[in-house]
Amino acid sequence: MGGVVSEYDVEREKRIRRLLTHLRDGTTDQFDGMVEFGPGEFTDPAVAKRERDLIFGRVPSIVAHGSEIPEANNFRTIRMPRNNVIIVRQRDGGVKAFVNQCRHRGALLEEQPEGKCRLFSCGYHRWSYDTDGKLRTITRENTVGEFDHDKFRLIELPVEERHGFIWLVDKAGAEIDVASWLGPEVDRIMAGYHLEDLVSFRWEGFDEPVNWKVMQDAFVDGYHIQYAHPNTAGKIIHTNVYAFEDFGRHARWLAPRKTIDRWIDEDPGDESLARHVTESHFLLPNSTLLRLPDDHFELLTFRPHPRDPGRCWMEMRVLVPPLETTPFDKEKWTRRWEKNWQILLDVLHQEDFPLLRSSQEAMFSEDAGQMLYGRNETGNQVFHREVQKLLAQ
Ligand code: FES
Ligand SMILES: [Fe+2]
Repeated sequence: MGGVVSEYDVEREKRIRRLLTHLRDGTTDQFDGMVEFGPGEFTDPAVAKRERDLIFGRVPSIVAHGSEIPEANNFRTIRMPRNNVIIVRQRDGGVKAFVNQCRHRGALLEEQPEGKCRLFSCGYHRWSYDTDGKLRTITRENTVGEFDHDKFRLIELPVEERHGFIWLVDKAGAEIDVASWLGPEVDRIMAGYHLEDLVSFRWEGFDEPVNWKVMQDAFVDGYHIQYAHPNTAGKIIHTNVYAFEDFGRHARWLAPRKTIDRWIDEDPGDESLARHVTESHFLLPNSTLLRLPDDHFELLTFRPHPRDPGRCWMEMRVLVPPLETTPFDKEKWTRRWEKNWQILLDVLHQEDFPLLRSSQEAMFSEDAGQMLYGRNETGNQVFHREVQKLLAQ
């Protein structure tokens, strides 16, 4: 495992050479047209309701990496756009997801963000449930009365583990089929990364006063780098230069890092330039997956708030080769990824979040006007196009 990133990949090296041409010519991959959009997409409660039902209630989105609930009875609670959810590892190694609600009088069943337990036990009257959702015990049962316990199991939600991630459709009774949602090309690409062999070094969630699409838009955007991040990312990566592939729903694009610059004038021949690029993937509906040169990945996900179009929940996680597969000792391994994590956090908190909060504020102006995605904003155009398609169905 882990060799994928450094392996010489002919097709990828071709795409990297397309980047060199763009750097020489001051160009980038583009779409044929520009796209207009309105502020209501980020502020209208009716649009937000349609998104919750027609997007998150219908298609799979990533809610965790499998390594975050490694053992039987490990769980996480998640606030999805339609439901409060518990995901829990089963004894047979599978994963189940439930609405996080006690079937007695409806209390939130599990309050902790994550943990390990053999039973979910409700704080109100102490009914308890097995981790497979079965109603297990009813306190003072002789006084409560007789009823069909099976009818009052936890409500199950469709969930699937694939390519290392746990995917969920936020609607009871819906179908889930991650492979067909990804389509053959993206499914094959994801399989090639062996993400199931990595571990989630750390994840963190952020409750932000910003619409989820304003946030997602910023993380498919290679055009803002040097302007919004002049002293951080802007020093490392080129702005507005990508080799872009549109897979229909999902997309992938390479961006050159500045270490590639000597090859702008010199011919690299068939030397691998893999270390000089970042590869980004947009996974409809709400994730950006970054593949970085030194065998690690970053996943950014954005979920609408259940009621407020002006808020969202973002999660960031870093997926890295597990300690046992590296030459490092625990301290060095931890120090390395900890440093990486702190840099990411600083950029988010100091640069992206302030900008995006004020963007959201601007969208709320009563007379806010139409806006534009440029021909160069290919990732944004795919995201916008696909969201519109899902809402139209
Ligand atoms: S609401 Fe959960 S036991 Fe009563
Ligand atoms: Fe940014």
